[in-house]
Amino acid sequence: MAKIKTRYVCQICGYVNPKWLGKCPECLKWNTFVEEVEEKVSSKTVSTVTGGKSSSKPVKINSIISNKEERFSTNIPELDRVLGGGIVPGSLILVGGDPGIGKSTLLLQVSSNISESGKKVLYITGEESENQIKMRASRLNINSENLYIYTENNLASIELQIADIKPDVMIVDSIQTMVSPEISSAPGTVSQIKEGTSKFMKISKKNSISTFIVGHVTKEGSLAGPRLLEHMVDTVLYFEGERYNSYRLLRAVKNRFGSTNELGVFEMKNRGLVELENPSKVLISEKPENVSGSVIVSTVEGTRSMLLELQALVAPTNFGYPRRTTTGVDNNRVALILAVLEKVVGIQIQNQDVFINIVGGLKINEPSMDLGIALSVASSFRNIPIDSGIVVTGEVGLTGEIRTVSFIEKRITECEKLGFNKIIIPKGNYSKKFDKDYSIEIIPVTNLRQSISEALGR
Ligand code: TYD
Ligand code: MG
Repeated sequence: MAKIKTRYVCQICGYVNPKWLGKCPECLKWNTFVEEVEEKVSSKTVSTVTGGKSSSKPVKINSIISNKEERFSTNIPELDRVLGGGIVPGSLILVGGDPGIGKSTLLLQVSSNISESGKKVLYITGEESENQIKMRASRLNINSENLYIYTENNLASIELQIADIKPDVMIVDSIQTMVSPEISSAPGTVSQIKEGTSKFMKISKKNSISTFIVGHVTKEGSLAGPRLLEHMVDTVLYFEGERYNSYRLLRAVKNRFGSTNELGVFEMKNRGLVELENPSKVLISEKPENVSGSVIVSTVEGTRSMLLELQALVAPTNFGYPRRTTTGVDNNRVALILAVLEKVVGIQIQNQDVFINIVGGLKINEPSMDLGIALSVASSFRNIPIDSGIVVTGEVGLTGEIRTVSFIEKRITECEKLGFNKIIIPKGNYSKKFDKDYSIEIIPVTNLRQSISEALGR
């Protein structure tokens, strides 16, 4: 067998060298060389996009006969929705998340569901032994006929087994443990991850196998292998949440077959992940009564409307610079809102520590949270509780104006359904017919000052 050649490529400028170099002679950057398998591009190269058939001519879009999208369900409606309505055959889905967040658990549950519907599933793991998987499976009550577990990390052997078993769906757990024997670098390095993903991409497109690839997230928060996986796959999902909190969010960051702002909510129980069909109810269930600094906010992610409890604590700074600590919301956004509160409303917080937290360990980056942040800070600062029957939503502008938010009717409906009696919304979203349509009291506001007096009662 001919020896497979590898070469080293600078990831910044593309300079190619047969040996590894510390500094690139072309762009003079350090530590940019990554080992790659040298592939001869010939006229016979098989296209991965067309699944092996070489279609060499441009065609008119009207003459393309597409086989109607035949997605199949994972039997986990939350996941199906995030995927855009189920799994597209032959698609490559990357599931990223911190170690220990529940990726393997989710995918084992998915494997079980799919295999129970009669499809063949191959679960390839380089992280756990057969015994460990079996233990997890018994905990999750999984015993399916069509689910194959393969503990291997050598890509050459894996390729052979895939050809043998011919699964409909395969799971690769995780891409960081897979090793391509042609490449001399250790598993988990950029070269190995790149080679591994491109191999799985080829196999998956060619044989129309839907593939889930697990990718661990680095400390910096990106998928290991500087985002290089993201452009190679069809869909990128992130599984997130606080480790010591049981709620988990599944989010699409890229999706060639659906919208990217869908959100799935799960709870990790001792028998695996369960879907939270009505997350609002659970997330706001612990809201304390008559305590300052806590407020219920309405958010909409994708098609899902959710109510969350937001808490702020404002306390005098004892020493040095005032602290600004946030969990679940964007730090810069908070800095901006605090500046508006100071300048426009006159709330003096320059010598106060401010802590902000979304209850339940969720991370939400939606502008409609702004008003909630501002009001919870004002409530804590003035030590006046916000009534538990109030929900707030609105984006705060730099001059303290309250800007409109999307899907207002969905938000109002959700609040009404959960028995709230007031919702503070941006004036721009208000319409006269709301008073007729809803029984909940709707309070339109134009600026921050007015919102504070509505929410705090003065
Ligand atoms: P895991 O799926 O192994 O995480 P990842 O693959 O993302 O690294 O999940 C590990 C955590 O989930 C572990 O801390 C235990 C917890 N867990 C439960 O709480 N309930 C369960 O039924 C299972 C299987 C795991
Ligand atoms: Mg795992």
